Amino acid sequence: MRIDIITVLPDLLQSPLNHSIIKRARDKGLIEVHLQNLREYGVGLNKNVDDYAFGGGAGMVMMIEPIVNCIESLKKQRSYDAVIYMTPDGELLDQKTANSLSLLKNIIILCGHYKGIDERIREHFITREISIGDYVLTGGELPALVLTDAICRLIPGVISDEESALSDSFQDNLLAPPVYTRPAKFRKWEVPEVLTSGNFAKIEKWQMDQAIERTKARRPNLLNDEIES
Ligand code: ADE
Repeated sequence: MRIDIITVLPDLLQSPLNHSIIKRARDKGLIEVHLQNLREYGVGLNKNVDDYAFGGGAGMVMMIEPIVNCIESLKKQRSYDAVIYMTPDGELLDQKTANSLSLLKNIIILCGHYKGIDERIREHFITREISIGDYVLTGGELPALVLTDAICRLIPGVISDEESALSDSFQDNLLAPPVYTRPAKFRKWEVPEVLTSGNFAKIEKWQMDQAIERTKARRPNLLNDEIES
């Protein structure tokens, strides 16, 4: 899978994409993440990417021309399955969306800034608008990283034990059960006995019961979603 991220702040994205699991996946060629510096498509001597809003009001708006030039230059090189704009008024990101995006071959993620982007880009070029939560960040870069991370870890081979992506919280609309590691006793706190029993049928049942209990207590809406879908 190839992800092109269009941003005015490519340096901000470098470090998270060059560490840990994402770095390993890129090194192995399982995913390609390319940062497109929007400034290179800016207009005029100063390579401007934003301008005042028609009709007035505080804040700058990202101009149509640099963004369209960047998107069209990418589209000349390959076809894209989705052009995603990160925005707080988009659909809320969830595991289902991450799963479906992870099946695509090439996607573009556009990071917004300032007051937003010229609406005509949304009308004519963006195929999907995604929010990472009901709060407003200073730009779309951190949301783009969140989306990229959520997608990449679902690509086969990226996580060493594929089981571990399948048993994540949310994969079955259930939160994950609690986990423990050695020592089995720390101070006076012992791990649940069933986990050290060696009885795998019992362990599986315990984990499923815990997942259901945890979901009921913390995120009952997930159980309702399951019934509705
Ligand atoms: N840009 C600013 N805030 C955002 C959010 N919550 N989700 C996606 N993009 C954003």
